[in-house]
Amino acid sequence: MPIPAAVRQPRDSLVITRPDDWHLHLRDGAALAAVLPHTARQFARAVVMPNLKPPVTTTALALAYRDRILGALPDELRGRFEPLMTLYLTDNTPPDEIKRAREAGIRALKLYPAGATTNSDAGVTDIRRVHATLDAMQREGLLLLVHGEVTTPEVDVFDREAVFIEEVFEPLRADFPALRIVFEHITTREAVEYVATSGPLVGATITAHHLLHNRNALFQGGLRPHMYCLPVLKGESHRQALVSAATSGSSKFFLGTDSAPHAAHLKEHAAACAGCYTALSAIELYAQAFDNAGALDKLEGFASHHGADFYGLARNTGQVTLKRQPWQLPEALAFGDAELKPLGAGETLAWRLQG
Ligand code: NCD
Ligand code: ZN
Repeated sequence: MPIPAAVRQPRDSLVITRPDDWHLHLRDGAALAAVLPHTARQFARAVVMPNLKPPVTTTALALAYRDRILGALPDELRGRFEPLMTLYLTDNTPPDEIKRAREAGIRALKLYPAGATTNSDAGVTDIRRVHATLDAMQREGLLLLVHGEVTTPEVDVFDREAVFIEEVFEPLRADFPALRIVFEHITTREAVEYVATSGPLVGATITAHHLLHNRNALFQGGLRPHMYCLPVLKGESHRQALVSAATSGSSKFFLGTDSAPHAAHLKEHAAACAGCYTALSAIELYAQAFDNAGALDKLEGFASHHGADFYGLARNTGQVTLKRQPWQLPEALAFGDAELKPLGAGETLAWRLQG
C-alpha cells in the first residue's frame, strides 16, 4: 500500500501564534541592550526575572526596570514587545507591597530559596517567614514563581528538585490552596508527575535545553561550562519525561527559556557561572525538540497558548513562521565589553524563524 504523502514527507514549514517566554533573564545596562532584541524578535511577551544586583524587590524598582527594558528596545521592535514584570520575594517583602504591585501591573513574585542559584543571596531563608506575604498574594491574585530546589548541603545536587517537592511544595500548597504557582524550569520526572497531578492552579515552565540535553552533555569530550545551568541537566529518563510533558498537549506545561546570559570569560572559568544563553534561537531550539519527538503539531499550544491561559492573559493575535532551513549558530556575540556564547555555538539548527 502506498504511504500517504503527509507521512512520507517531513513537514518543512510551520505557522504558529506568536509565542511568549514565561521565564527570562534580561540583565541590565549593556547586557540588556545586547540580548533584548533576540527575545523581542521572536516573542510578544516575556516574564522578566528579578535577580538583578541588587534584586528587584519593590514595585518602584520593577517599574524603573520596565522603563529601562522598553528604552533598550531597538526602533524596529518598539511597541512589539511587552515585558511582564516580577518582584523578588525576600524574607522582608511586606504584605502591603503586594497590592501596590498588582495595581502597577506586576504579575508575579519569584521565590528563590536563598543560595539556590545566580544572585539568590537575598532569597527566602525559610518559607514560614513569608506566610503573611503569600497570604496577600493569594488574596490579590498574584502568581508565585518557584525556583524549586532545596539548598541543604547534604542533599545531592541532582536530587534537590525532588526533595523540594516534599519539603516545601507540598506544605506550601496545603497552606495556600488558592495560590497560583508556576514550578519554574522543571528538570525531573518527579516534577512532571507532581505538576500533572496537582490541579489547575499549578503549572510549569520547561526550557529548551532541558528538552534537548541530558547531563552527559556536561562531560562530552571535556567539561562543558556552557551546558551548566541551574537546576542542572538531569539523566536521560528525566529528559524523556520532560519531552513527554511538553508534547502531551497538557495546558499545565508551557515555554520558559530561562535564557540566562553570562559573559563567556565567566562561564569558561574555574567556578563557571550557572546559566545557558538560548534566547538567540529559542523558538528554533524548541522546534527542534518537538520535531525530534514527532510532535510539531503540539508546539503552538506549549509555546503560544498554555502560558497566556495560565496567567489569565489574552493569547497573542499575530503569527510567526518557522521553516526547515538549516543555519549555523554564531560562535560568539557582543555582550557589552565582553563576549556571549549562545548554547550550541557553531552548531547547525534545522529550523529557522522567518522575518
Ligand atoms: C539563572 C541566572 O543566571 O540568572 N541561572 C540559571 O542557571 N538558570 C538563575 C536561575 O534561573 O536559576
Ligand atoms: Zn531563571
